[in-house]
Amino acid sequence: VEAGSEDTSVIDILRKTRDRSPLSRAEIEYLVSGYVTGQISDAQAAAWLMAVTLNGLSITETAHLTEAMLRCGPTIDLSSFRPRKVDKHSTGGVGYKTSLIIAPIAAAGGLIVPMISGHSLGHTIGTLDKLEAIAGFRTDLTMHEICATLTKTGCVIVGANREMAPADRKFYALRDHTATVESVSLICASIMSKKLAEGIDGLVLEVTTGRGALMRSEAEALQLAEFMVHVGRAMSVHTVALIIDADQPLGNFVGTGLEVMEAIWTLSGEGPQDVTQLCVELAGWMFVAGGIVDSIGAGCEFAQHLLESRKALAKFRELVIAQGGDVRMIDDPGRLPSAAGRLDVLSVTDGYVTSIASERVGQAARILLTDRACTGEPMTDPTTGIALCKKVGDRVTAGEKLYTIHWNSDGNLSNAKRVLSDCYEIADRPPPARPSLIRSRIV
Ligand code: URA
Repeated sequence: VEAGSEDTSVIDILRKTRDRSPLSRAEIEYLVSGYVTGQISDAQAAAWLMAVTLNGLSITETAHLTEAMLRCGPTIDLSSFRPRKVDKHSTGGVGYKTSLIIAPIAAAGGLIVPMISGHSLGHTIGTLDKLEAIAGFRTDLTMHEICATLTKTGCVIVGANREMAPADRKFYALRDHTATVESVSLICASIMSKKLAEGIDGLVLEVTTGRGALMRSEAEALQLAEFMVHVGRAMSVHTVALIIDADQPLGNFVGTGLEVMEAIWTLSGEGPQDVTQLCVELAGWMFVAGGIVDSIGAGCEFAQHLLESRKALAKFRELVIAQGGDVRMIDDPGRLPSAAGRLDVLSVTDGYVTSIASERVGQAARILLTDRACTGEPMTDPTTGIALCKKVGDRVTAGEKLYTIHWNSDGNLSNAKRVLSDCYEIADRPPPARPSLIRSRIV
C-alpha cells in the first residue's frame, strides 16, 4: 500500500459511518487491525467511535466488529475439554453477586465454566474485587494455570491477562475518555469479543436494566440483548439472554466481603429469595445451553437440587482452594474480615419503601471500598459496604433500621452518607406490585 493511501481509506471509513452508510466486513477488519497495530491514530479511532455512538451500527456491522476484535488476540484453547463449555455474562448491577454462585452451580452440574470477569466499573463492584476479599484468592492466573484449574474443578474465575482481548483493551481505554461507552454496538462488540475468546459452546447473558444498570431503559437493554444473541449465534455459540430488573439492589448486601458472605449463604440454600431465584434460572439456562437438559424446567430443578444438596457449595470450596484462597473463610463466613465501624441509618417516618436509588447505593459502596490507609496505594477494602434491611415494598416504622453502613475511614463514611442521603423513598401507600425480576427472555 502506498504511503498516504491508508489514510485515505480510514477517512473514507469515517465518512461512511458519519453519513450512515454501512461498512463492509473488510473495512471493519481494516479499521480494527489498523488501530491495534498503531497504523490508525487515536484521533481517527475516537472520531469513528463517536460516529458509531451517535449513528449506531447495524446488527451485521456489529457482528463483523465483534469478529474483527476477537481475531486480533489469542483465544483460550479448550479443545482438550469435553464439549460442554458454557459461561454467563452480566452487564452488571448493584449487589449482583450472581457469578460467584452460578459458576460453581454450573460446574457442579458437569459444565466447564471458563469465566473471565472484571474489576469494578462505574458504580458496580467487580466480581474479581469480591473474590479478592477471600485472603489469598488469585484472579491473575496464567493461561496454563487457567487450564489446570479447569481440569481440576471444572470452573475458574479470573481477569483477562495482558495478551487477551488487545483490541477491546485499546478501544475501551479510548471510549472511557471520549464519552463513547454508551453505545449498544460498542458494548456488544466489547463484551462478546471477550466472551467468544473463551472458546465456549454456550453463553447465558444477564442484561440488566433500571437505575442500577448500564442500560437504564428496558428498550435499550432489549436491543443490547438482541445484538449480543445475534452475534453469539452467528459464531455458532448457543446464546440465551435474560433481561433483568436492576432498579433496586439485588439481595441485601453491597460490598466485597459482604457479598461473598451472601453468596455463601445462597450456595448453602439460605440466600435471599431474589438472589436464589435469579441464580437458579441463570444456571438452568446454562444447563440448557450446554445440552445437559432439554428444558428450562429441568434446568432449574437441577440447579435447585445442586444448591439444596450443597454440591454447589462444595464446588465453590474447590474453586477457592484451586485459586489459592483461604477456605476457612468459606467454611465459616464469620472469619471474613469485618469493618471497624457500623452505622445504622433509621427511618424517620412510617410507611412503605417505594424505591431505592440503586446507583447511589453503588456509588456509596465504591467510596467505602476505597482504602488508601495502609500503603498509600489505592486498593479495595474487603470489609466495607452496605447492608440493606428494607427493600422495595417493605413496611417500615419510624425509628426502624433501613440500612447499615460498614465503614473503616471517617472521610469515606461522611462521603458515603452524603451520597446515600434520601436514597430510600418512603410513602404512605405500598408501591404498585413489581413486575417480575426477570422481565423477558430471548431463548
Ligand atoms: N462491559 C464491557 O466489558 N464492555 C463495555 O463496553 C461495557 C461493559
